Amino acid sequence: RIVYVNGEFLPEEDAKISIFDRGFLMADGVYEVTSVLNGKLVDYDGHLTRLERSLTALDMPEPEGMDALLEIHRELVKRNNLKEGGVYLQITRGAADRDFLYPEHPKPSLVMFTLAMTLKKSPKAEKGLKIISIEDQRWGRRDIKTVQLLYPSMGKMMAKDAGADDAWMVEDGFVTEGTSNNAYIVTRAGTIVTRQLSNDILHGITRAAVLRFAREAQMQVEERPFTMDEAKDAAEAFITSATTFVTGVVEIDGVTLGDGAPGPVSRRLREIYIEEAE
Ligand code: PDD
Repeated sequence: RIVYVNGEFLPEEDAKISIFDRGFLMADGVYEVTSVLNGKLVDYDGHLTRLERSLTALDMPEPEGMDALLEIHRELVKRNNLKEGGVYLQITRGAADRDFLYPEHPKPSLVMFTLAMTLKKSPKAEKGLKIISIEDQRWGRRDIKTVQLLYPSMGKMMAKDAGADDAWMVEDGFVTEGTSNNAYIVTRAGTIVTRQLSNDILHGITRAAVLRFAREAQMQVEERPFTMDEAKDAAEAFITSATTFVTGVVEIDGVTLGDGAPGPVSRRLREIYIEEAE
């Protein structure tokens, strides 16, 4: 793979970052994953806008190369001949002597690489996902897309150990979101329910697009918290993210939803999302 590090395109084995980088020492960094379908970036502007919001929220200056970000994305896709997958981008506050205080003159790092993935014909999306619930033990600014991913990682391991595909996190009795995706249910009356935007969840770029498509298709949408009991009793459930698009959930804490296959609402939204992305 050819990767991008602070102004240079290099073979991945030649790319280097300091051991004093605050991303490494303190998880002082933010990231984005933009999907690529048929060699084209999906919803690039949305990801850029959220990246800028994350930087502002952490008082992190823009790294060099920020004005050429779109070209760097395109160049990486081209050099790696990527047809389907994603571009990972990470900005950290850069290297400085270890100190909790931010350095006075930070030199932020920008790292990017491609990830080849099967997104459209994903076997997981055809079968549907098994989900378990876990307590949400993350910090309180989940709207900032930081590289502090240890708890989501632990959550995915707990799901794997329980024979499931992923976990939904619960706080004060209500589902916040999935470990790396936004969470939805479809009630028996056909209403799509997903938690409203706040600091409690990441403001998914796929979420924004999917809710827009749902409303355009005259589907009922409610943005409010829901409980695990409501989820287990739902007609269907699904998740959204850049790397899963819309993927049906077929089992929640051991309870099968509907006939155990992805439901019609999530299948229709997945179709619309892919049509619009292509
Ligand atoms: N994760 N919620 C969380 C906690 C996430 O980590 C993500 C994305 C989402 C969905 O956001 P979007 O639709 O913008 O991808 C929601 C990425 C894909 C990841 O960490 O790999």
